[in-house]
Amino acid sequence: MPLSPIFPESRRIAIFSDIHGNRQALGAILKDMQARGIKDIACNGDLITSSAHSAEVVKKIRELGIPSTRGNHERYLFELSDPADEKWQLDNWAATRHEYKVLDTRDKSWLYDLPESLCLQEEKIPLFMTHGAPGDDRARLTSQTSEQSWQSIFASFPQNTTLIGSHLHRFWRYEGMHGQFVRTPSAGLPLDGDTSAAYCVLERQTNGWTVELCRVAYDLDKELADFKKSDFYQEGGVFTHLLWLELKTARWWVMPFFAHLATVFADSQEGRKGYSHEEMRFAWQSFDRNLYPDYDPDKSDVLV
Ligand SMILES: [Fe+2]
Repeated sequence: MPLSPIFPESRRIAIFSDIHGNRQALGAILKDMQARGIKDIACNGDLITSSAHSAEVVKKIRELGIPSTRGNHERYLFELSDPADEKWQLDNWAATRHEYKVLDTRDKSWLYDLPESLCLQEEKIPLFMTHGAPGDDRARLTSQTSEQSWQSIFASFPQNTTLIGSHLHRFWRYEGMHGQFVRTPSAGLPLDGDTSAAYCVLERQTNGWTVELCRVAYDLDKELADFKKSDFYQEGGVFTHLLWLELKTARWWVMPFFAHLATVFADSQEGRKGYSHEEMRFAWQSFDRNLYPDYDPDKSDVLV
């Protein structure tokens, strides 16, 4: 992976991911990092979608010069660049469609140019970052990932690498014979039952990087109220309501609902790219909200 290190000498780096348009959470974590005297900050993708302030959040991260990778939600944005695409008609893409409309040209082109991976440090102790896994921004690296998979993931990195991943909105750390993997929590949409904002601080020691999980209280009620009043919420139908519930509860709602949709429309799944507004509303009527109250991707693959 031939990349130039972003912070070649740094001993302490704050890394956040999955801010998902949450303005209040972004303000709170940046303030917390400043209070700790941390100057080197990186973002591991998914800047947009899921709350009401994506345009503002992207602008702020870009203007602060925070190096960032591209998450799957940024990729979705560019997959939607063709209005003739069938996805423009499907309700589960309503949130991404909204983001496509509200982001200005400069921020969209900055997002478009974000790399899939970044090298934060190489010569001292290697530190790399990618949203999911190399080559797959939706990879689910969990306690169920096999040793063989870890081996092939770390094969493309130098010896003793710490690899930062994100995507599942839950903090987790793996240390094996091939290297260390740190899965960051979500800064703006935690799904681990704790609604506070979250990020990680990596510190370089003699033999490797240690990691500290930082939680920061922020004005969630304000973010929820803004979200409900926003065009993003109004235009997104059932899908944005599910995102609002996730923000409010720090629990999984979107994935259980999509598992439910697949059951409801089991006879018409082949080749399906999504669901119409009417189909989403129809399935919502029969959705059992207690079906997966404590869904944990590290313990179950039921919804993969
Ligand atoms: Fe995310």
